[in-house]
Amino acid sequence: MIIASALGIIGYPIGHSISPRFQQAALNHRSIDAEYRAYAVHPDAVGEFVASLRAEGVLGSNVTVPHKETVMPFLDEIDEWAAEAGAVNTIVNRNGRLTGYNTDGYGFLRALRESGGLEPAGKRALILGAGGAARGVAQALIRAGVGRLDIANRTLARAERLAELATARGIPAAARPLASGGLSAAAASAELIVNCTALGMTHGPDETASPLTAEQIPAAALVYDLVYNPLLTPLLRAAERAGAATLGGIAMLVYQGAASFELWLERPAPAAVMMDAALAAMRARQAESG
Ligand SMILES: NC(=O)c1ccc[n+]([C@@H]2O[C@H](COP(=O)([O-])OP(=O)(O)OC[C@H]3O[C@@H](n4cnc5c(N)ncnc54)[C@H](OP(=O)(O)O)[C@@H]3O)[C@@H](O)[C@H]2O)c1
Repeated sequence: MIIASALGIIGYPIGHSISPRFQQAALNHRSIDAEYRAYAVHPDAVGEFVASLRAEGVLGSNVTVPHKETVMPFLDEIDEWAAEAGAVNTIVNRNGRLTGYNTDGYGFLRALRESGGLEPAGKRALILGAGGAARGVAQALIRAGVGRLDIANRTLARAERLAELATARGIPAAARPLASGGLSAAAASAELIVNCTALGMTHGPDETASPLTAEQIPAAALVYDLVYNPLLTPLLRAAERAGAATLGGIAMLVYQGAASFELWLERPAPAAVMMDAALAAMRARQAESG
């Protein structure tokens, strides 16, 4: 048994996060005497909060929107993935010294391979969206040796910046406006389609919207929606109608959390236990909202 220690997730707001549910389930399963809590930290108080993570007994923290970039100047060290992503989702306290990691790309790839059954090397991929999550996904796909990358976004300039990341590494890439003929052409030839927009997300900009129609989705593609609330999004419904394979965002959420757990505790995370707890939390939340 490890001595009582503290972990948590910081965001603003933070009430939506199910990380406390599946991280605590993992700690309990491994008989680790630690508590994982959610902390709503105002942007003005981020530096003060990060400083508090240096205390003895604090193992570290997860970081979510809107603090993934703003925590960085308060850390002693940033690992390579986080530096490239320009964002930190995990902080580890080692004897008062804080290191920032980003496990989102790892979680994305592990879910793609293990839950989606798709190896991205050499594949034609279409990313919808160009925000923080899309940047992590693009980085992960580039590292995994994707064959071609198309990026469609409402704000074209952001998609162009992501496409440049790929072309700089010799991977053919193009940026397209969301809702355009070019998007339909890119979708038609894609083997992997990843939604990184907030469309279809509960309490998001448009809960009922899908970035692609069923007619735009090829039956041979895997459609991977990073949105996990609801579990079955409008895009995944469209993909099912098209006869395509589907993967929701909950597996990525759990695997990025499993990687964080392993960084803090230096032991294997019980990923299946975490997945069960995450699904139970989502189903309870959906039942509550009717
Ligand atoms: N499964 C997971 O583990 C995981 C991890 C991270 C994120 N996510 C999910 O991924 C989504 C994006 O997160 P993020 O952190 O990248 O957010 P973000 O940085 O705010 O980016 C939001 C993206 O959605 C687009 N968008 C927003 N409203 C739109 C609208 N009305 N019409 C068309 N496009 C719109 C934005 O386009 P513009 O550039 O034009 O504004 C941008 O591409 C969220 O739903 C989040 O929950 C899931």
